[in-house]
Amino acid sequence: MTGKILGTGSCVPATCWDNNKLAEMVETNDEWIKERTGIAQRHVAGKEETTATLAAGACKAALENAGVSAEEIDLLIVATVSPGMLVPCTACEVQSIIGADNATCFDMNAACTGFLMALNTAQAYLAQGIYRTALVVGAETLSNLVDWSDRGTCILFGDGAGAAVVRAESEDRYAQVTHSTGAKGGVLTCASANVNTDVKEMPNTHIQMDGGEVFKFAVSKVPEVINELLAQENLTADDIDCFVLHQANARIVGSVAKRIGGDAEKFPMNIAKYGNTSSASIGIILDELNRSGRLKRGSKIVLAGFGGGLSYGASLITW
Ligand code: UT7
Repeated sequence: MTGKILGTGSCVPATCWDNNKLAEMVETNDEWIKERTGIAQRHVAGKEETTATLAAGACKAALENAGVSAEEIDLLIVATVSPGMLVPCTACEVQSIIGADNATCFDMNAACTGFLMALNTAQAYLAQGIYRTALVVGAETLSNLVDWSDRGTCILFGDGAGAAVVRAESEDRYAQVTHSTGAKGGVLTCASANVNTDVKEMPNTHIQMDGGEVFKFAVSKVPEVINELLAQENLTADDIDCFVLHQANARIVGSVAKRIGGDAEKFPMNIAKYGNTSSASIGIILDELNRSGRLKRGSKIVLAGFGGGLSYGASLITW
């Protein structure tokens, strides 16, 4: 038995900053950002909006879309690198907001591969018969971690949440391949503030990134892991209806599409509207595709995530 996605939801902050707004803060411009990243705007959390409230908004929308009540959720996993609280975990905060009183709740951090890893984890529990209905959500308030004076990173990231309700009721195969390369983790970092400053210097608690290195990693490893998944499942790119990639940079998605050799239309993008929302991106775009009617029941979809860790992976689902 594997988990079928019964419904999806997403939630983004009300405030939206276009590239011109960022050009008032750092030396950049709309043309450079659009050309190098494909981003036109990003949502930025306000005072009342936290990772938990955005996650809860996405979860409520996903439950409604699935026709499932909060009480029916047995497992609630939040993927995030930007929890508002370390304890309680964001998943417990979400549980309290949405009333998923019967759920077991925990967070996962696999950076931009987070949604994929959380879905894989939920699927493993469902396949074992441990739980029946899971709620998987990727949620971020990266605006709290971004150095707003660093043009190399602040133009890239955005806030938001995307969720999926997954129920063990399918006979279709769920397949996945994941990898991590911790030795290269230094190219994308963000330190925790949890340090004894009597003994150690305060580390940099903002996102720091060697963009070029992360870019090279993504354009080589993402096609590789997708091809590994397809080979494992005896499939070719032609058998796949849609490749839903983490939205990190439009040029990365375009390059992966070329290397995989599929029709470019099979690689949808929404990065122009949201920027890179890390753990949330796959959930948000999946929700848009679902609500627009683009995903047909029975079609084969490859999800692919990649980012900090470094970690990357691809999963095969049947819609
Ligand atoms: O979610 C997973 C984690 N993240 C990623 O996947 C991000 C992967 N990396 C990227 O998307 C790209 O590397 C960036 C968008 C971050 C940067 O694009 P790039 O084409 O790699 O630019 P670059 O860093 O090589 O910089 C090119 C030039 C430099 O100027 P010089 O040295 O050529 O004179 C930069 O100083 O562009 C300059 N630059 C900017 N100019 C205007 C860098 N950032 C900006 C900016 N506005 N915001």
